[in-house]
Amino acid sequence: MLQCFETSCLFNNPPFFLKKNLICLFISGFFKQLQVYTEEFRSWPLFKLWIGPLPVMVLYHPECVEVILSSSKHIEKSYLYKFLHPWLGTGLLTSTGDKWRSRRKMITPTFHFSILTDFLDVMNEQGGILLEKLEKHVDKEPFDVFLDITLCALDIICETAMGKNIGAQENKDSEYVRAIYRMSDLIQQRQKSPWLWPNLVYMLFKEGREHERNLKILHNFTDTVIAEKVAELENSKQMKRDTDGNCEESGSKKRKAFLDMLLSATDDGGNKLSYRDIREEVDTFMFEGHDTTAAALNWALYLLGHNPEAQKKVHRELDEVFGDTERPVTVDDLKKLRYLECVVKEALRLFPSVPLFARALREDCCIGGYQVPKGTNVLVITYALHRDPEIFPDPEEFRPERFFPENCKGRHPYVYVPFSAGPRNCIGQRFAQMEEKTLLALILRRFWVDSCQKPEELGITGDLILRPSNGIWIKLKRRPHAGSE
Ligand code: HEM
Repeated sequence: MLQCFETSCLFNNPPFFLKKNLICLFISGFFKQLQVYTEEFRSWPLFKLWIGPLPVMVLYHPECVEVILSSSKHIEKSYLYKFLHPWLGTGLLTSTGDKWRSRRKMITPTFHFSILTDFLDVMNEQGGILLEKLEKHVDKEPFDVFLDITLCALDIICETAMGKNIGAQENKDSEYVRAIYRMSDLIQQRQKSPWLWPNLVYMLFKEGREHERNLKILHNFTDTVIAEKVAELENSKQMKRDTDGNCEESGSKKRKAFLDMLLSATDDGGNKLSYRDIREEVDTFMFEGHDTTAAALNWALYLLGHNPEAQKKVHRELDEVFGDTERPVTVDDLKKLRYLECVVKEALRLFPSVPLFARALREDCCIGGYQVPKGTNVLVITYALHRDPEIFPDPEEFRPERFFPENCKGRHPYVYVPFSAGPRNCIGQRFAQMEEKTLLALILRRFWVDSCQKPEELGITGDLILRPSNGIWIKLKRRPHAGSE
């Protein structure tokens, strides 16, 4: 539960405590209240809240955010991430200290550009299935596109992370797909409900037992995929040995997944990851790598459907690059889609998929002129940070031009951090941008999108991910001839 607290009892500097009774937070929504307070107290450098027994400093100014994100010391995640541990263990997102440093070093090369390029094929293939599904809505009633996009993103991450095609787009009722969604909901609910924090108490509630059931489904699935992949690798090595007496990996063109690379990655001492370590990382990619991208894509479509002038500019750019062909998107095409890139960035400014994230301070530090003691939990609210009217005038307006290179000059580097920043930034940033641009290019090459909701009808909720709780309702028209506008 969130409550205000008198700073003087915990911290030396007393000016920033909320005088209101914040008990209402659970009635009107945690994120909603954060939106209200960060606006109301925009001129303050920071403020403090209680989440149940947990005191939290709330940051939404670039100078304050920089102190935390640029530091190589404050890399420890807050207590709230503990509820991800049963599912993700202490993988890249949740680990800290030497374990995190060593993992980050081992895993960074798997996101190399040349490897991402291979994944573009998967994005084109799965995007093709999405287009066929969207086709049946052309010139029909408005429909909610949220799930279609999300299942496409899920298929993409499954195939790229595990090398496994789960066909979520065609079979949304798979046990694994359902478990992923239910698990994310349960974790968010637990984070906001301090009475569900102790494990023993949690297990007394039906949510706790459901959590256990879903955990088994998720882990069994990943364990099976890893075991299959190990067997496949052994087989192919054996076949290679049998055919030419050489035990090196075959030079066949089979597409690699992150999992293949994790199986061969070694640390500085030449040690490989255990199967359990690998499961942590694969589960982390599955969790962090699709919901985020799906939300970002949905918001971008909503914004374009709401801003026809910007959509026309995207269409013109697409026509210049693709003419009226429907060929797969290439890396070269992506480089040329500069306006679309600004659209993607501006959509993430207004609707950052991760609207807040938290750290626990490893040592006392000075933020915004105030001494904050070691152990304090710090919440970075990207949603509010990105709406600073001094830096982004008329912050609620969708203006991709804000991200033209000439308009970014001199901007504080920590004023726009949808992928976080500093040593613990998002490792999947380039992957996500590639996926967003590719899917948007595929969709907008073929369709004209109209958004059917006003901003207040979206039902914005921001827990782990910023989502429209009422979905994204759009209408589609087929574009007559690419290049005719
Ligand atoms: C639009 C899409 C995405 C957004 C907005 C996003 C945003 C973020 C943010 C804000 C963080 C920092 C979280 C924190 O400090 O608690 C993060 C971390 C992370 N993200 Fe992403 N992400 C996206 C896509 C992806 C994808 C596609 C992957 C994997 C394929 C991925 C993997 C990760 C991992 C592993 C971390 C932890 C990195 C570390 O601590 O070293 N993300 N992401």
